[in-house]
Amino acid sequence: MKARVAILPGDGIGPEVTAQGVRCLQQVAQRFGHQFELTELPFGGAAIELHGDPLPAATLEACRGADAVLLGAIGGPKWSAPDAPLRPEAGLLRLRRELGLFANLRPVSVQPALADASTLKADTVRGVDLVFVRELTGGIYFGAKERSATRASDLCVYTVAEIERIVRVAAALARSRRGRLTSIDKSNVLETSRLWREVTQRIMDSEFPDVKLEHVLVDAAAMHLIRRPRDFDVLVTENMFGDILTDEASMLTGSLGLLPSASLGADRRGLFEPIHGSAPDIAGRGIANPCGTILSVALLLRHSLQLPAEAAAVEQAVGDALAAGARTADLVAPGAQALSTAAAGDAVLSRLARS
Ligand code: IPM
Ligand code: MG
Repeated sequence: MKARVAILPGDGIGPEVTAQGVRCLQQVAQRFGHQFELTELPFGGAAIELHGDPLPAATLEACRGADAVLLGAIGGPKWSAPDAPLRPEAGLLRLRRELGLFANLRPVSVQPALADASTLKADTVRGVDLVFVRELTGGIYFGAKERSATRASDLCVYTVAEIERIVRVAAALARSRRGRLTSIDKSNVLETSRLWREVTQRIMDSEFPDVKLEHVLVDAAAMHLIRRPRDFDVLVTENMFGDILTDEASMLTGSLGLLPSASLGADRRGLFEPIHGSAPDIAGRGIANPCGTILSVALLLRHSLQLPAEAAAVEQAVGDALAAGARTADLVAPGAQALSTAAAGDAVLSRLARS
């Protein structure tokens, strides 16, 4: 097949991990006989430096015209002062919103070989296989903001339609997996959460009676995630709760550097990015874990390009490389030798070539 993929390396370790994702896409094209047209574009802090805008018009247009977007990471100390006029994060939020990417899928599965890498006990995390479905274009991230010398406010708004569409995505996913959906809210305090719970219950009763639904308050969910993570299948939640809980959930796998994500809208086009940030503390040293990005490439192949066999081959190659001990500094046992970003990429690609 022919496909166009926009590549947004971004800031910090973004360009380093994206380079491995690009190699992976090129190898998939070669190995499976596809033609992928990859176009690299400035985004985030890098685009602020070049064009005075974290999301330049040309980058947005290229993303609109692409079948999928692969993103590294954005942000850094240079652009994060409290009074900074332009923020890389604003570009990411605008890109998600402009492309209508309301559903953020964050799968968290523990590779058998890495059960010991988590800070939690291996017996607690072994076999964990869950997916967060985070609402991505609403809530407190996008509500009106106000600021005076003595007061600040961020408004959290959800509409029925916004809740319905994300619940449908999550419920359909649960139906294709183990048939269990956990909806997370704070309905004992927040009005938006009361609406969330009501709408979720109605959609599930009327359209997904076969999917088992439970409602869990966000504070309790934070606890149960590390107490009994194997019990969860699909979890659906609003924007900010999803942001917080997915960083927590990443620790089940051993490293934030392993987690991919897919941001999807009404059609097939999506934005795919590792959930880790730009990690300025290790940027430029070639030691970042490329697995989150390579697994994001797998999600890109599956969801936007509809190439499930290719996606599975990439995931298998990552699993095999990790099982064989290919580990970057974030995962390595004390005293053992860590692989560089490029060497970890090599370990995955050599397995993909043989698959
Ligand atoms: C994420 C990130 C972003 C978010 C930031 C960079 C704006 O933390 O994708 O989880 O909060 O959504
Ligand atoms: Mg986050």
